[in-house]
Amino acid sequence: MSAVAARVPAIVAHGGAGAHPTEGRDELRRGMQAAVAAGFAVLSAGGRALDAVEATVRVLEDHPRFNAGRGSVLTSDGTIEMDASIMEGDRLECGAVASVRCIANPVTLARRVLESGRHVLLVGEGAQAFARTVGVPECDPASLITEAQRKRSEALHRATPGTVGAVALDRHGTVAAATSTGGMWGKLPGRVGDSALIGAGTYADSTLGAVSCTGDGEATIRVVLARRALDYLKEADDPGYAAKVAVDLLVDEGRGGGGLILLDWRGRVGWSHSTPLMPVAWMSPAHEAPELAF
Ligand code: GLY
Repeated sequence: MSAVAARVPAIVAHGGAGAHPTEGRDELRRGMQAAVAAGFAVLSAGGRALDAVEATVRVLEDHPRFNAGRGSVLTSDGTIEMDASIMEGDRLECGAVASVRCIANPVTLARRVLESGRHVLLVGEGAQAFARTVGVPECDPASLITEAQRKRSEALHRATPGTVGAVALDRHGTVAAATSTGGMWGKLPGRVGDSALIGAGTYADSTLGAVSCTGDGEATIRVVLARRALDYLKEADDPGYAAKVAVDLLVDEGRGGGGLILLDWRGRVGWSHSTPLMPVAWMSPAHEAPELAF
């Protein structure tokens, strides 16, 4: 136990900025609830924020309705290429993978990169080879492509990016963030978005808070959105205001749309989005069940 006074643990998750779904809203809600419940179970047992965000994102990667892991959108070649990152805020330890094709849970591979301590970001074949050395199982990429993804129109894909992410605070006062995505529909093979980039899609600093972003990756990268959101938090000491100003920055200077979730070092929650919908769920000891904001 560190010298930091025990904190009240909390976890927040998002299911991607986009349009309102034409169907299956209850399925989305159940998926979000299951994801934050998995992360909160880790926290309430005294576990680490890093384990909690990984657990939450894994549930969303396994859920075919979200654009991450199984259910990822297709590239212009009809393949999937996934990005993920994870960060713990005490020592700014982080790991990320990009353009991986044969991994069911890219967030866990990103976690292994973090644990290796040697590099921050591994891509493509190098990331796949690293997975073999650290025992992260590879899968048939076809098993990650759902029939719905094959059939969906470009319009629907553009409207529902469905990147997933989570931020958490544990009892020890450590914050963590994780993000995972299949990227943007019809992207060029080799394109890497913000979800693989520490500072853009994901950031955690236990003196400030943790952020996970969703939306137009190129716009998010332009304004280094996750880190900028924490800069706004430092200035204003208001998570909701910081999230809103950061999304305004994404729209005005990044020239794109999206959203983010933010959890500060005290466990206060903020989120904002420029799109019609961004599923958000959160949980703390004050809640008997996950709270939903959609
Ligand atoms: N925000 C996810 C992506 O652009 O890849």
